Amino acid sequence: MADKNEWGSNLSFILAMIGSAVGLGNIWRYPYVLYSNGGGAFYIPYIVAIILMGIPFLILEYGVGYDFKSSFPKAIRKIHSNWEFLGWLLPVAVFMIMIYYSAILGWDGIYMILSFTKGWGANPDAFFATTLLQSSESISGLFHFIPLIAVAMLAGWVIIWFISHRDLEEGLGKVSKVLVPALFVIMVVIVGISLTLPGASIGLAELFNPDWSLLGHFEIWMAAFGQIVFSLSLGMSIAFTYASYTGEDADLITNTISIALANSLFENFAALGVFSILGYMSLQSGTAVADLVTQGTGLVFVVYPTVFNVLGQWAYVLGPLFFLTVYLAGLTSILSTIEPLSFSIQNKFGHSRSKTMTILIIFGAVVSMIYATSYGGSVLGYVDTFINQIALLLGIILECIIFAWIFNAEKLIGFLNARSKTIKLGKWWLVIVKFILPIFIAVVWIGGMIDVINNSTSDQLIFTVIVAAILLISTVIFTVLPAKSPDWDDVEERL
Ligand code: PHE
Repeated sequence: MADKNEWGSNLSFILAMIGSAVGLGNIWRYPYVLYSNGGGAFYIPYIVAIILMGIPFLILEYGVGYDFKSSFPKAIRKIHSNWEFLGWLLPVAVFMIMIYYSAILGWDGIYMILSFTKGWGANPDAFFATTLLQSSESISGLFHFIPLIAVAMLAGWVIIWFISHRDLEEGLGKVSKVLVPALFVIMVVIVGISLTLPGASIGLAELFNPDWSLLGHFEIWMAAFGQIVFSLSLGMSIAFTYASYTGEDADLITNTISIALANSLFENFAALGVFSILGYMSLQSGTAVADLVTQGTGLVFVVYPTVFNVLGQWAYVLGPLFFLTVYLAGLTSILSTIEPLSFSIQNKFGHSRSKTMTILIIFGAVVSMIYATSYGGSVLGYVDTFINQIALLLGIILECIIFAWIFNAEKLIGFLNARSKTIKLGKWWLVIVKFILPIFIAVVWIGGMIDVINNSTSDQLIFTVIVAAILLISTVIFTVLPAKSPDWDDVEERL
């Protein structure tokens, strides 16, 4: 019988990791990134990013998590007893992602229901921004509450609670085993239908049309690395936490390769679906694919409903399936965002999994109500930019310094290789995690900071500072609160 924080099998571990990786990034971000960064030519930086960063870094996070078998802050404390603070930073940042992800999940839930009747009407753009979100650019919009969104979000929190408060295998493990394969099957059905639509080939030709000249541009390399960081959920302490839940004999190297492959397979499939549909739309409306294509909420909640409006009967099949896919992809990702913080709290304060999850989920649900206001969409954009462009990249750099350098990743090679049935690590791996990766990410990080500072409005800057302050203050609180678990303090330093 598995412990309450232990996977029942290696399959649960892999599927839960795939569930975390496969999310909105694969559906609404990747197709656009591929298209706007050289189409077919993008595969070169993309594959380099997976081999040079995605796989080596995941192996590092897994290796350390597996070796320490404890929460993230406790592991950092063991490496250096004064550094516990750094260990809370990532779990708290990832929990902040959870809170805003719940809003997107809520919106998608509403669209899933609307899609049965094309309830968004003839003008999906106006419907999304004005009717549904009642978006306001002014901070006073924070006082304008939108009950429908609140209800949809709370429904999501209830589902999350239902799954997460159980023992790991009983909840997340079992759910991943059902939902993740289901997600792949539904995606295959969507792509199958989309490819048969007239005009699909127009969209695909646009998507893959390679622009080799872009390979010499730094931006497309940055785009590829950025996509892999986000899509594989790197540097978030999620992989660390999931690996610490594994039993004795996991083959982490092979698992990593399977997870990276599954994630890429899914996102490339999503790109086929998205661009076939855009090609269809282009043929129907005479608008060039280039003028239709977009990403993020614009793609899912505006372009797609517009396409469904002209799609006839197929829309009643594709529409619900599509919004269901987004929902399931989002759900399996959001479930992973609570694990690092929850496990850290259980570990330090000795609360049960069920109690910790219940408290965190209630807290998250209450705070998330900020996104059920007219100004919520703007806040979401600010928090998302801060977390993705600043906090998480910093997380990767920190992990490289602490795990690869100070802890010394070389120590992991022996046991990782001993269990690996596929690739064996060598010096090349150390060179990547100690030098190439942190240097590259540092460059991207500085670029991201400059971008945020140059391109933000004063409201955005104010919110960025507030979010950063909340992150730091919560981190300090978790660090200074006295531990309740008897073994929290027995950290003979491990170096
Ligand atoms: N990897 C997820 C995606 O592609 C995003 C995610 C971010 C998931 C943070 C968990 C935590 O959408």
